[in-house]
Amino acid sequence: MQNLPQPIRLFAPLAALLAAVLVITGCGTSSPDIARGRVLFTSKCGTCHTLAQAGSSGTIGPNLDDAFAAAREAGGFDDATVEGIVKNQIDNPRPSNGNPSASMPAHTAEGIDADDIAAYVGKYAGVPGAAPPEVEGGGGAQVFANNGCGGCHTLAIANSGGTTGPDLDEVLPGQKEAEIEESIVDPEAKIAEGYPSGVMPQTFGETIEPEELKELVKFLSENAGKSKE
Ligand code: HEC
Ligand code: HEC
Repeated sequence: MQNLPQPIRLFAPLAALLAAVLVITGCGTSSPDIARGRVLFTSKCGTCHTLAQAGSSGTIGPNLDDAFAAAREAGGFDDATVEGIVKNQIDNPRPSNGNPSASMPAHTAEGIDADDIAAYVGKYAGVPGAAPPEVEGGGGAQVFANNGCGGCHTLAIANSGGTTGPDLDEVLPGQKEAEIEESIVDPEAKIAEGYPSGVMPQTFGETIEPEELKELVKFLSENAGKSKE
């Protein structure tokens, strides 16, 4: 990171200025939502990028912890600097020099989505010890949390209240494990009535390890519909 092109260094003052302006104007609606950024990162970026805090292990693009750890440690990069670089990469993906067949695609995220993702990555990429928040309830509960399922789904036992997708406490009781598994790895196979297609990430079949998937399905099958003790 020592030989970064000069313009990247300019991001720090710029981003700091922007942050100051946001504070002064108290413009709450435009401050990024980091929790939302995490959910979006998991579905739009984690297939290609490893990031410890997101629990993602994609290898098509660079490991984002490695990409920013050294510069953070050297003290040159703060959260806002990383955020600015990530935002810029999403908006204008550079063509890959190392492996031209593996450049980052354009339009992986736009608008508020891109802002929330950049703020999320800025907060955690390369931060020593960053890990998905630990939750109670065992392996399956952890997989549910790591993958941001609760951002879109209500599940009482997991303390989640998402409303983008169906309330899992209502719809899962009575379903077989195989049905639940299909809904997770192939969400388009059967669209829940009254909900849009193409919203639930279609990548969990690749990003969740088979062993973890089994734990997740078992956790849902055993706990959906139960209230938290
Ligand atoms: C289809 C795979 C793919 C997806 C999806 C993808 N990327 Fe990338 N990304 C890449 C590749 C490949 C590179 C390396 C490009 C290069 O070397 O210029 C890259 C580079 C980057 C870099 C620069 C890292 C560095 O070392 O300088 C950042 C930051 C980044 N991506 C963030 C994201 C974010 C955030 C998302 C989601 C909105 C995302 N990427 C989605 C493949 C992907
Ligand atoms: C970005 C939002 C989003 C995320 C994240 C998400 N889902 Fe979904 N999910 C939806 C939507 C929308 C539907 C309804 C449309 C459909 O059936 O694909 C759905 C449907 C489902 C269903 C089928 C429900 C039924 O009616 O039978 C299950 C099960 C499910 N999701 C589980 C999960 C699990 C487990 C995760 C995390 C690994 C997850 N979802 C992550 C949005 C999401």
